[in-house]
Amino acid sequence: MSERTLVLIKPDGVRRALVGEVLSRIERKGLTLVALELRTATTEVAAAHYAEHEGKPFYDGLLEFITGGPLVAAVVEGPRAIAAFRQLAGGTDPVEKAATGSIRGDFGLETQFNLVHGSDSTASAEREIGLWFPSL
Ligand code: CMP
Repeated sequence: MSERTLVLIKPDGVRRALVGEVLSRIERKGLTLVALELRTATTEVAAAHYAEHEGKPFYDGLLEFITGGPLVAAVVEGPRAIAAFRQLAGGTDPVEKAATGSIRGDFGLETQFNLVHGSDSTASAEREIGLWFPSL
């Protein structure tokens, strides 16, 4: 059974020229790109995307960071795509949680600047894909 997940290569990943590296890992895993776009997120989309974090101490900084430069938004498809991409990404904290060999474990240092986002459930994936790619 195939499923879809929303992936972001955040502005830090684009700035550090890791787009090719991240897309390559997605493709080498066997996942398929079904939508891919470089864009700068509006505050509206960013706030909707991170609505569950509203009120947390890092929320304002997170919104400023995520809207602060171009990012890559993608829809990725494959069997267990949600869990598969989260395995590729590694845990949220790139040092304490992400294993070496994962994207965050290999390239990240700080929790805010953790390079990529992947949907965490089928409900989130559906919501996030609708938000970033309403025509899909
Ligand atoms: P992401 O997987 O996109 O989901 C929420 C994001 O908030 C997370 O990646 C980080 O970029 C950011 N974040 C989560 N926890 C913290 C934290 N403690 N400090 C700063 N940023 C955080």
